[in-house]
Amino acid sequence: MLNVMLLLLNQLKNFFFNYITIMSKIIAITNQKGGVGKTTTAINLAASLASLDQTVLLIDLDPQGNATMGSGLDKAELYYSTCDVMLDQVALVDAIVDGLPCGYALAPTNGDLTAAEVELTTLANREHRLRNAILDIRDHYDYILIDTPPSLNMLTLNALVAAEAVIVPMQCEYFALEGLSALMTTVEGVRSTLNPSLKIEGLLRTMFDGRNNLANDVSAQLDEHFGSLVYRAFIPRNVRLAEAPSYGLPVMYYDKGSRGAKAYLALAQEVLAQALSRSSNHEPSPIVLKKDLPIKNQPEETTPPGSALQVADDGVLVFQLKQNKK
Ligand SMILES: Nc1ncnc2c1ncn2[C@@H]1O[C@H](COP(=O)(O)OP(=O)(O)OP(=O)(O)O)[C@@H](O)[C@H]1O
Ligand SMILES: [Mg+2]
Repeated sequence: MLNVMLLLLNQLKNFFFNYITIMSKIIAITNQKGGVGKTTTAINLAASLASLDQTVLLIDLDPQGNATMGSGLDKAELYYSTCDVMLDQVALVDAIVDGLPCGYALAPTNGDLTAAEVELTTLANREHRLRNAILDIRDHYDYILIDTPPSLNMLTLNALVAAEAVIVPMQCEYFALEGLSALMTTVEGVRSTLNPSLKIEGLLRTMFDGRNNLANDVSAQLDEHFGSLVYRAFIPRNVRLAEAPSYGLPVMYYDKGSRGAKAYLALAQEVLAQALSRSSNHEPSPIVLKKDLPIKNQPEETTPPGSALQVADDGVLVFQLKQNKK
């Protein structure tokens, strides 16, 4: 009898340990390459996690406001937005909109965030704005997803400083590998300076078309180079995924039988399973490029004055180790 009780207690302890450690997982959905499926992933992963009984907040940190519109909120009608939050004019809790049909809470945005990004570069503690804003509300959610812009600017940097992990959506094409290499360098830079616990949660193959030889080749290369970092779930090219945002709905509420809806549900299940299996190991997973990936020079990007971001000779954005003045 005593043995049975001890066993039960042990199981309960494990359950609560798992539960506590998977709480408040803050994940930035990022890739400095444009149009790779960041927003589609943010919206549909958020909705799929919510449908699996997770409490989810999606933070729209891209001035395009696509995640806002795709979640069913008109970006022209916002009362408060993440722009106000980043400029410390309002608490994040006041910008959050609940009760949307998408099933998750949303911190929306619009084009005003572009001005905020410029203003941010002159403000103290500029890289930590989002991290600080999230502190008050992080315990209210199982998952906080952050949709980021297609560039490496102060907004993306805020997302990487606030996040515990990064999901990288990518298309299986040659230039995707190039962008991925740059992103890995960036994440490593953030880890060594502003956010030591940042880790890569996973690489997600998006808009995948198995009839395309190049897509299959690149997909195999990803598996070879990054192994278990690549999600088993992959997102097929599916017109329903492209249509759903125009109805302001995640695809599972637009066409739940579509291949897109099933793929994002499979991804959410994998993310949850991964969180459980990793819960007893708090060490950030190392980011290792097993082999050199093909890298070409990228066009020079402008760097905000005084930013920690710099463009290296090989065109990859890197971080200076010196911290900015507070
Ligand atoms: N799996 C898919 N199948 C078909 N269309 C898709 C798929 N994923 C995304 N799309 C479409 O591709 C376009 C780009 O996707 P999305 O906006 O999610 O990319 P993004 O990385 O967020 O872009 P940006 O860098 O501009 O923010 C959109 O029109 C979207 O509807
Ligand atoms: Mg986007």
